[in-house]
Order: sequence, then structure tokens, then C-alpha cells
Amino acid sequence: SWSAASFVDTTVAELKGQLGNDRVILGLSGGVDSSVAAVLLHRAIGKNLTCIFVDHGLLRKNEFRNVMRDYECLGLNVIGVDASAKFFKDLEGVTEPEQKRKIIGRDFIEVFDAEAHKITDARWLAQGTIYPDRIESLNITGKTIKSHHNVGGLPEEMNLRLCEPLQWLFKDEVRRVGRELGMPEHLITRHPFPGPGLAVRILGDITPEKVRTLQEADDIFIQGLRDWKVQDTAGNETSLYNQVWQAGVILLPVQSVGVMGDERTYERAVALRAVTSTDAMTADWAHLPYEFLGKVSNDIINKVKGVNRVTYDISSKPPSTIEWE
Ligand code: XMP
Repeated sequence: SWSAASFVDTTVAELKGQLGNDRVILGLSGGVDSSVAAVLLHRAIGKNLTCIFVDHGLLRKNEFRNVMRDYECLGLNVIGVDASAKFFKDLEGVTEPEQKRKIIGRDFIEVFDAEAHKITDARWLAQGTIYPDRIESLNITGKTIKSHHNVGGLPEEMNLRLCEPLQWLFKDEVRRVGRELGMPEHLITRHPFPGPGLAVRILGDITPEKVRTLQEADDIFIQGLRDWKVQDTAGNETSLYNQVWQAGVILLPVQSVGVMGDERTYERAVALRAVTSTDAMTADWAHLPYEFLGKVSNDIINKVKGVNRVTYDISSKPPSTIEWE
């Protein structure tokens, strides 16, 4: 049967053979997959790995800064690029979900490509693609379900070969590999997060102000999940965060009437989304405690300016998807 230890041994040996003394570039996203891929490659080729982390401005609150610090602690050589202004400009007025993905995918490649070209002796591009990314992007029924922008290979003008050491793994296996590599638990247990980030959680057009509103609401929800302690089936203390596969807040293109003091309000509604899953192919809505949902709802409405209503998404996948776009 599959073991993380032997996967690490075999893969490190294979990577050493395949890559030799070549320089490799890897795109980091802050997620588990690309982080594990980076540490695995770092173990195989050390300083010949250069990582690039593009901030598209659609990450969670403080995510870019926090994750850069994590990567530096792991000894990775990371170039951080703040390209948020470009992404916001190109996304202005765009509402159609696949169009958003296309623009983000294109801009991402452009920014990444520009950075990569500065590393003139690079031979390989490494990616943290895992097996389910590949399946979901396959054209099985003649219709791509969603175009995952981290799948699809290389822009042609980049003369690099593709290296995807995790391409046959499922998420739980990637996490086991991360533990085997000695990575910190908070990085390994981090929830999946879509490549296009908060862009696919803001229904309708994207503005920096909407992103800030969503970041605040999302931060309250995610911190709340981390802070809410529960016992797992074995009686060990854990958190709601660790019991769900993925969670986030969706900013809805809906305003509704509320009352604050003596004032009528007419503000935005958000949806909380939390699911349980093992591979994101199917998912169940998480049965979060009512007291928890009530607390998060109060906190969001009291603290996040411009939001006066919170709903909870109780749809499962299929027929819904995890993200709303
Ligand atoms: P859905 O919404 O299709 O999501 O049920 C399944 C998993 O994929 C993530 N997701 C994406 N990841 N680029 C990504 O890298 C994307 O465009 C994208 N869309 C969805 C989603 O967060 C969930 O984990």
C-alpha cells in the first residue's frame, strides 16, 4: 500500500536524477499542494529551486504576508510579487465567472512569466498540480466543468519543461507527504483555496472595496472556526476548522433591508460556505453548531461595514459546487 515515506524517498531520488543540476522555478500559491511540492523539490535540489509567489490581490486578509513568512521559515528561496493593481484593472466590470478565470489565468501567466524570465538559466517549471485538479479539468462530457487555472501547462514562449511531482496524489496523500517532510501543521492543515481566490467568491464585478469587505467577513468566519474547540471521535481536542474540508464567505450581489438602532439600512448579504469532503469531487455541507453560526453572524454584522445579513449555504456537491462560481 501507499506510504508517504517511500513516496518521499522515491520522488526525491527521481527528481535528483531528472533535474540534475538544472534550475527550477515553482509557482507558490500559499496552498498545501504548491507548498508541499516546493519543500519536496527543495529537499531534492536545494538552492537550485526558485519559487515565485504572485499576489493577485484576491487572497485572504493578510495571507500574502503571513505565507511569505512561512516560506522563509522553511528555507525556501521565494520571490514575492505584488501584482494586485494589474489584476484589479483587468477585472474591472467583468461579471461572468469563466471570464474572470480567463483574465486571472492570463494575467497570472503574464506576471509569472515576467518574473521567470529574470531567472535566465531556468530549465524547468514545477507545479503543485494534484490528481483531482487534472480530472476536474478533463473534457469528459464535451464540456469543461470549470477551467482550473493552475492546470493547462506552459505558455508556449517559455522554453521550460514541466515538472509535477504530486500529479498522481490525492489531497490526503499530499498532506501525509507534507508531514513526512516535517512541515508545520498549520501549513499542512490549511484549507484548499481556489487559484482565482476571492474573485470567484464575489458574485458580480470585483472592486478593491468589495474584496476588503469580503476579507473582513471571511477572516471572522475562519478565525471563528479555528477558535471553536470540539472533540473528535477519539476524544481529542480539535477545532471546527480542522473538521471541515474547506470554508469561506461569499459576497452576494444582493442588498437587503435591515435596521441598526433607529436607522433603516440597505446593505449587502453574505453567505457562509463550509463543506466536508475527502477530495472536493463530492462534498456535503458542514453541520456546524447553531451557536457557532449565530456568533459568526453577529460578529460579521456588527464588525463588517456594509454587511447586514448572513446566510448559510446548505447545498451539497453534486448538484451544487463548493464555490459559487
Ligand atoms: P468546485 O467549486 O468545482 O471546487 O466544487 C472544487 C475545488 O476546487 C477549487 N476550485 C479551484 N481551484 N482554480 C483552482 O485552483 C479554480 O479556478 C478553482 N475553482 C474551484 C475549490 O475551491 C474546491 O476546493
